[in-house]
Amino acid sequence: MAQKKATNIVWHPAKVTRSKREGLNGHRGFTIWFTGLSAAGKSTLAVAVEEALYEHGCHAYVLDGDNVRHGLNSNLGFSPEDRVENIRRIAEVAKLFRDAGVINLTAFISPYRVDREGARKLAEAEHDAFIEVFVDCLIEVCEQRDPKGMYKKARAGIIKDFTGISAPYEPPEKPEIHLRTDQTTVEECVQAVMNYLIDRNYIPCSPNRIQTTYCTGQSSSA
Ligand code: ADX
Repeated sequence: MAQKKATNIVWHPAKVTRSKREGLNGHRGFTIWFTGLSAAGKSTLAVAVEEALYEHGCHAYVLDGDNVRHGLNSNLGFSPEDRVENIRRIAEVAKLFRDAGVINLTAFISPYRVDREGARKLAEAEHDAFIEVFVDCLIEVCEQRDPKGMYKKARAGIIKDFTGISAPYEPPEKPEIHLRTDQTTVEECVQAVMNYLIDRNYIPCSPNRIQTTYCTGQSSSA
């Protein structure tokens, strides 16, 4: 936890409450937390699920590791301490999005179990849903994909502390959803996430829809 320096601060309540915002949106704000190795497919899936949610008439937004590191977290590197702070900030941003009544999808390696548990606790303290999605893919396959050439650089020692090569990744023990992206298509993974959300009434089936292909009546668990 970052050192707390803020003192003499008083919470200022809003007049438009969270439940009003959620009423307007037609669904609750909650977090879908994608975790996995670089090139496992976190960003691809988060963006695809975001699009599916949009088409379903839901307000959703992706917080992506690479993107957030262009701005809010541009002062953080990949040391263990910086990764902890990266995830702590995103857990707090996810909390703000939930309060705004927006479904937020986070796509960060988030390699440490304890940090993901911290993000979960923050949600569960407010009785909010935190859906951890393990984007599981053999490292050999991630390395073959290597869309940004990062594994190559990590193997050559050009990038230090690279997750899966020279820095650890702690897989989730009990994720809500476990996807094998080396064995299933993007479409199948999106359908699995949408089924999970519809089956558990996180999203309606679907009064607000723009167009939807995700309410097929044949749901299957991931
Ligand atoms: S996390 O470990 O702190 O959660 P995050 O998801 O924000 O990582 O960023 C990972 C992305 O940063 C990777 O997809 C990759 O493009 C890039 N990257 C650069 N250096 C590293 C590194 N040493 N380890 C992992 N990813 C890195």
